[in-house]
Amino acid sequence: MSTGTGGRVVRTQVGIVGAGPAGLMLGHLLHLRGIDSVVLENRTREHVIERVRAGVLEQSTVDLMIAAGVGDRLQREGMRHEGIHLAFSGRRHRIDMAGLTGGRAITIYGQHEVVKDLIDARIATGRPLHFEVDGVRVLDLTASSPRIHCIHAGRSEELVCDFIAGCDGFHGVCRPAIPAPHLKTYERDYPFGWLGILAKAPPSSEELVYSRHERGFALFSMRSHSITRLYLQCAPDEDLDAWSDDRIWSELQLRLHTDDGWRPNEGEIIQKGVTGMRSFVAEPMRFGRLFLAGDAAHIVPPTGAKGLNLAMADVHRLAEGLAAFYASGSDTLLDQYSDRGLRRTWRAQRFSWWMTTMLHGSPEDDPFDRRRQLAELEYLVSSRAAMTSLAENYVGMAFD
Ligand code: FAD
Ligand code: PHB
Repeated sequence: MSTGTGGRVVRTQVGIVGAGPAGLMLGHLLHLRGIDSVVLENRTREHVIERVRAGVLEQSTVDLMIAAGVGDRLQREGMRHEGIHLAFSGRRHRIDMAGLTGGRAITIYGQHEVVKDLIDARIATGRPLHFEVDGVRVLDLTASSPRIHCIHAGRSEELVCDFIAGCDGFHGVCRPAIPAPHLKTYERDYPFGWLGILAKAPPSSEELVYSRHERGFALFSMRSHSITRLYLQCAPDEDLDAWSDDRIWSELQLRLHTDDGWRPNEGEIIQKGVTGMRSFVAEPMRFGRLFLAGDAAHIVPPTGAKGLNLAMADVHRLAEGLAAFYASGSDTLLDQYSDRGLRRTWRAQRFSWWMTTMLHGSPEDDPFDRRRQLAELEYLVSSRAAMTSLAENYVGMAFD
């Protein structure tokens, strides 16, 4: 069929915009339920695979990947962590997450590895996944057959769908396509960002270290037994060119070392980047037959390690709703998609905001704020109730 402008018309059940973790996982969950989809991504495959971002998977994300048959490499290479450390005033304090939550833990496995596994799985199904698609526009969102226009391989294409999933991240086109009166947004910008590096250095701690320091926050994480991942609090628009490798290492050592002699191992820096910090929620997560999932609908500052996990919870819920619709014509789960998602999102927002403000210094802080922050940390590491609250939020709720 032709679009009337010489382009192609393609029919699918679910048009998915974005091949990040949300879009790829949704496509896979729908495939497992016999529902067809087309995934459209505007960047190259290499760009999507190489983008270094999250590293902490909640138990529920791990369980979902295993149940969906895309968890083999994750089970072999992922690093299960049962605790984290909080460092302040020169001391490290371990939070025994598994002990406090009846055995729940997190797994360290890079987001780009998740994406790689999901792309391989998609390609194995033979279902369409198009990279380098331009000019994506979503149309007729309240009609029974919403459409997606795009340019694919130099030709204009129209995708006629039953539903559209907006999995195109914070800067995508789906959320802005919702008419303003139908969307309420909540936002908070933070006056700092993170400078993140990957280094060829064996991790010197088996678990993550979140450090509150007078010079600013720092985080010690890892990707494997030979790669360390580290972050430094910086200005939101920090100029990376001002940070030589030597400067990065000396700042990391200052902010992370503790009185027991612990410090990160150094090695060749193989990747650097600066990320801004924001909290953002769009309500509702649905307009007509367009459903928003993942960063397209909400952003959390990375201190709580929740963004990727929220995206996975969204697409799990959406896939269940779409499966029920195709199996029995029932709208019930689709109608609950947004409210249930927003409950989880706001819980993660609160937790991520709390972790962020407890651990970062802000230019507006006065001496009272700094003492209050330390008092909060002192209380946290001395109260089983407070540690349990942190632990159960950090390992995450079961997907509902
Ligand atoms: P994205 O990953 O943003 O994917 C959206 C996709 O849509 C992209 O591929 C984009 O190219 C594509 N796209 C955009 N516009 C269009 C368009 N017009 N047409 C077609 N395609 C389009 N989360 C955690 O859970 N744990 C962590 O430890 C953690 N750490 C983080 C550390 C950092 C430094 C950062 C930056 C983030 C971190 N996060 C973490 C957050 C996590 O990376 C995101 O929440 C996650 O990527 C969301 O996935 P997504 O698929 O919704 O969006
Ligand atoms: C990471 O390893 O990239 C990471 C870990 C914990 C966070 C954020 C990012 O809170």
